[in-house]
Amino acid sequence: MKILGIETSCDETAAAICIDGKIVSSKISSQEIHNKFGGVIPELASREHEKMLNFIVHQALKDSKISLEKLDGIAVTQGPGLSGALIVGTSFSKGLAMGLNIPIIGINHLEAHIFANFLAEPGLTFPFTCLLVSGGHTQLWLVNDFGKYDLFGETRDDAAGEAFDKGARLIGLSYPGGPEIQRVSEGGDSGFYDFPRPRVKKSKYDFSFSGLKTALLYKVREMGDEEMRKNVSNIAASYQEAIVDTLLDRIDRISTEENINQISIAGGVAANKRFREKSEELSSKNNISIYFPDLSLCTDNAAMIAMAGYEKLSSGVHSDLALEANPNLSL
Ligand code: KG4
Ligand code: ZN
Repeated sequence: MKILGIETSCDETAAAICIDGKIVSSKISSQEIHNKFGGVIPELASREHEKMLNFIVHQALKDSKISLEKLDGIAVTQGPGLSGALIVGTSFSKGLAMGLNIPIIGINHLEAHIFANFLAEPGLTFPFTCLLVSGGHTQLWLVNDFGKYDLFGETRDDAAGEAFDKGARLIGLSYPGGPEIQRVSEGGDSGFYDFPRPRVKKSKYDFSFSGLKTALLYKVREMGDEEMRKNVSNIAASYQEAIVDTLLDRIDRISTEENINQISIAGGVAANKRFREKSEELSSKNNISIYFPDLSLCTDNAAMIAMAGYEKLSSGVHSDLALEANPNLSL
């Protein structure tokens, strides 16, 4: 079975081909146009997708050496995400599916991030816990089976990726903030500033990052420009450490209190080097397996969409041409 996957939910235009459960090609075009604005501008994102999507789809098909006519289905991100950006992907996919007379499969972007773990760790078995940490979400899921998820906890305010992005902006770094903070942190002292590791009262698996961001704001205001310039790598390293420690605190808790020994990390923040290093320490301390997908599968990509589409269509599940983009789609 040959599935084309299409992802346009935010600022990555991506296409991938899955043949019988194996990804044979995956293409991504990242929109750099947003970097100078310090965040994604929705209108520009839609225009860029519109400009690039046809080309990226052709590249993915060319790499896979299969022709359009051989496709059995088209999987496309239905939501959550930016409305206009999602509409570009779903409209394109509906047109193509109609022209080829093949089914379309609407995919939940969050569920696709969970599927990315199977691409990275084919040996992963149910049940496992998935920590989804992206620019828009921070959620801790118990994954019982495909399509059977229980939410353990989530952020009450900012997502972890958002905390990286907003923090980066406060210290004069560009978007996306996660990779920038990671880069600037190299060589910095992570214990230089003692930023808070926020917990949510009465809700042991929830997260809250807005207080951490405010603590950084106060620290930046307190320092003059000179001190800020001199200490930027210490500030970045200390801030990164606080986010990473907060994520690890919940993993630590859930593994000990719920007796869970497999945890997979999904979403863009899973690319963070310090998070990966410190997870290894926790993994040996608690005797648990913590899985991180390959870097290319952590951030938004279409391989995870194609894979999710393959699983769904194989079990007879697909959408129809009335499929609509849903910016607020939940799991
Ligand atoms: O999953 P993703 O690609 O897109 C969303 O669905 O949101 O995640 C993007 C987020 C951004 O907030 C970005 O700053 C963060 O992931 N990110 C990182 C790193 N790479 C990407 N955060 C920390 N360290 C990184 N290396
Ligand atoms: Zn994502």
